[in-house]
Amino acid sequence: MRVNPAGRGKPSMAGPMRQNHAMAERVIPLVDQRIAALAAKVPAQAAAPTGLLTDTRGRPLRDLRISVTDRCNFRCNYCMPKEVFDKDHAYLPHNALLSFEEITRLARLFMAHGVRKIRLTGGEPLLRKNLEELVAQLAQLRTVDGLLPDLTLTTNGSLLARKARALKDAGLNRVTVSLDGLDDAVFRRMNDVNFPVADVLAGIEAAHAAGLSHIKVNMVVKRGTNDHEILPMARHFRGTGTTLRFIEYMDVGATNGWRMDEVLPSAELIGRLRAELPLVQLSPTSPGETAERWGYTNAQGQHDPALGEVGVISSVTQAFCHDCNRARLSTEGKLFLCLFATQGYDLRTLLRGGATDEAIASAIAPIWQQRTDRYSELRSSLPADTTQGGARRVEMSYIGG
Ligand code: GTP
Ligand code: 5AD
Ligand code: SF4
Ligand code: SF4
Repeated sequence: MRVNPAGRGKPSMAGPMRQNHAMAERVIPLVDQRIAALAAKVPAQAAAPTGLLTDTRGRPLRDLRISVTDRCNFRCNYCMPKEVFDKDHAYLPHNALLSFEEITRLARLFMAHGVRKIRLTGGEPLLRKNLEELVAQLAQLRTVDGLLPDLTLTTNGSLLARKARALKDAGLNRVTVSLDGLDDAVFRRMNDVNFPVADVLAGIEAAHAAGLSHIKVNMVVKRGTNDHEILPMARHFRGTGTTLRFIEYMDVGATNGWRMDEVLPSAELIGRLRAELPLVQLSPTSPGETAERWGYTNAQGQHDPALGEVGVISSVTQAFCHDCNRARLSTEGKLFLCLFATQGYDLRTLLRGGATDEAIASAIAPIWQQRTDRYSELRSSLPADTTQGGARRVEMSYIGG
């Protein structure tokens, strides 16, 4: 059955009904997100076009995460399960995607509103052709303080060995590689396309060799699936200059069949690590950081920078919404204010309708100023299904991690 993917096509009254009917027939929910596609209204209010923004909870806008494709060559079960993202899945057509020029224009306007960090995501961003050209355009931008943006990329690493040098030359500062285990069989099972771990490790090496700094590795931990890889991963990356971060498996999207008993709480994970490798907690490097940092210690029990650190990202057991400064721009130009949102604000229509910079900047300001999102803090008090007010949560492969 062909389904209408995230956020495309016209919203139709048939959407919710067809979806419910289909869900009765199949256990795996479809990614029919026409409800989510109901673009939230861009407020008409004309606010001052530039200036630093804070939302209703006093949170500034600092981090813009841009999804450049909704496609991926992996099928990690927690993100793009094979049964849903199969050969019939309808991805966005090319003309629906923001062009590099459109992305750069929006990024510039977001930076005028206080954004300092730009992360390119997907899907798998390196599947987007000539991505280094976008990196080069973004590297020309400056923050409100006249500084270069912190320009980074999240990748599954499969194409990194080929692309690292060109990305660095284009102005990329750093890179984060997703890697869920070192054992080849475990890794092949996690990516579900039989991709070998050696190629991702070669990608990480190539990133180092190309001079990309602060390389991070993100490992999503699912209890009973890859938690036995925690220690081997920690040992492998300790002292290499690559920071490993463990991510609690999240209930993001509507297709991964999330269950709390598959979440390994970070406190338990740190306990397991400390039993083998001594660690001390480190202070945050910047406000609104996702990861809690733990440093490897020397014989005196002090953090040894040469051994490096690990991080834990605990969105499930220790929500970090209180200082969340992240906005997300979907592949087709919708602005999402939370990873768990059901609706985005359609900026592409403004872009393609001939709106001036001032008009677009004036639209962005009240969207952020009216932001109330704090899903992870509210998770336990919300219904256990994947809908909020009847609308389906968007997929991470569509709005970016
Ligand atoms: P750095 O700038 O390198 O510290 O990156 P980051 O931690 O801000 O971003 P990254 O994409 O590496 O985040 C790692 C993982 O944390 C993501 O893949 C998500 O699983 C999770 N994550 C990131 N941002 C959020 C967020 O705003 N909310 C929640 N719930 N999870 C998030
Ligand atoms: N839970 C936690 N993190 C997830 N990611 C995708 N799906 C999930 C999930 N269900 C994150 C991982 C991956 C990045 C691309 O998105 O960090 O590395
Ligand atoms: Fe692809 Fe990353 Fe999602 Fe895995 S987690 S399916 S690599 S986008
Ligand atoms: Fe930010 Fe939403 Fe994540 Fe909370 S759940 S940290 S508000 S993106």
